[in-house]
Amino acid sequence: MFSISRDDLGPNFLFGTATAAYQIEGGQTDGRGSCIWDTFAATPGNVKNAHDGATACDHYNRWPEDLDLIRDGGFDAYRFSLAWPRLIPEGTGAVNPKGIAFYDRLIDGMLERGLKPYATLYHWDLPSPLQDKGGWMNRDIAKWFAEYAALVGHHFGDRLAATATINEPWCVAFLSHFLGIHAPGYRDIRAASRAMHHVLLAHGTAIDALRAEGMKNLGIVLNLEKAEPFSESAEDRLAFDYGDALFNRWYLDGVFKGRYPDILTSALAQYLPEGFEKDMDVVSRPLDWLGINYYTRGLYKYDASRPAFPVTQVKGDLPKSDLGWEIYPKGLEDLLVRVSREYTKLPLYVTETGMSETDDTRRVQFYDDHLRAVANAQGQGADVRGFFAWSLLDNYEWAEGYNSRFGIVHVDYETQKRTPKGSYRAFQGMLHNTR
Ligand code: FCB
Repeated sequence: MFSISRDDLGPNFLFGTATAAYQIEGGQTDGRGSCIWDTFAATPGNVKNAHDGATACDHYNRWPEDLDLIRDGGFDAYRFSLAWPRLIPEGTGAVNPKGIAFYDRLIDGMLERGLKPYATLYHWDLPSPLQDKGGWMNRDIAKWFAEYAALVGHHFGDRLAATATINEPWCVAFLSHFLGIHAPGYRDIRAASRAMHHVLLAHGTAIDALRAEGMKNLGIVLNLEKAEPFSESAEDRLAFDYGDALFNRWYLDGVFKGRYPDILTSALAQYLPEGFEKDMDVVSRPLDWLGINYYTRGLYKYDASRPAFPVTQVKGDLPKSDLGWEIYPKGLEDLLVRVSREYTKLPLYVTETGMSETDDTRRVQFYDDHLRAVANAQGQGADVRGFFAWSLLDNYEWAEGYNSRFGIVHVDYETQKRTPKGSYRAFQGMLHNTR
């Protein structure tokens, strides 16, 4: 049970759960094309136990049961993503009618159950034929992504309550092209610099395409962390400045101020696409809301051995999830206040938070504390309108495979049986006011 109640978050506060297509759908039949996660997972050494998303939670077939769970939990909204390779198997050009039919069923199923559809266009499943052309490193992705956005707007726009272009551009760009941890697994500063710009440029062209289809309530979902210096030394403060710029400010400054942080445009000057400055009005197209995914803090320490960014991330001494991520509810409070003071008065949504953990009592505490943090941020003027738990189901946790469990509903991958956990019951108790 939670100690916080629905009323603590204000009268129209929206509660939802979140998932992503590749992590739950499976069902890679019916004309779906290959995506970068299929091949990344098939490459030995990339994903724990060589797990892949071929079956995942079989949501492609079991979606009615999953939507029932969301409704029965008392949630108002469902944040899901559409799979680009299911809709346009080659990335551009021919449309897969069975893909359209699947999302028609899914979205209609949400509406029938009184759930508001919160759609994300891109949650990391780039069609492989586009990767063959350079993927996020190729400027043409701004055009390819806009074509896909227009298709989504055209077919589903009338039924979506809110739409985000990109989920977590830092992961799309830096985690996947500099750190090499996610698909396509590059470790290259030029590749990363190009992806860092093109991902936001494509966000802007997609916003234009969605608006041209008459869509409203458009946003982006940024993953932000509470960045902190390891110590108050001048070196660690410099390291913090780099870390915060790389993780938070590149995206916040780009989208809301139409410029990138100087510390990075100098560090990356020789690698960024030429003339990127001319794109900044597209990068910073006006939005209707901002989604923030928050999991942990980033603690930054100076490291002279890394010339590009003299910084390394270290673990602090806060309690940790079973993936070793520090648990820091106050960080969420501070972050929401910072974004609303320094960047935007738009409505904010916590579009993801949660923890990987098998001891679900810890997850109940986690959510209770993070909901309290949201209420505290509201008390300091942050206009936070909703909260989505990551995730509805245990699912394919990318490079961690299936062993990491973020769900409020347990999934037995042998039988595909869903079993609500205590954290699901805690939400249900709060949302039905049965405490
Ligand atoms: C976020 C992703 C989501 C999930 C959680 C744990 O970075 O958006 O797909 O993997 O982390």
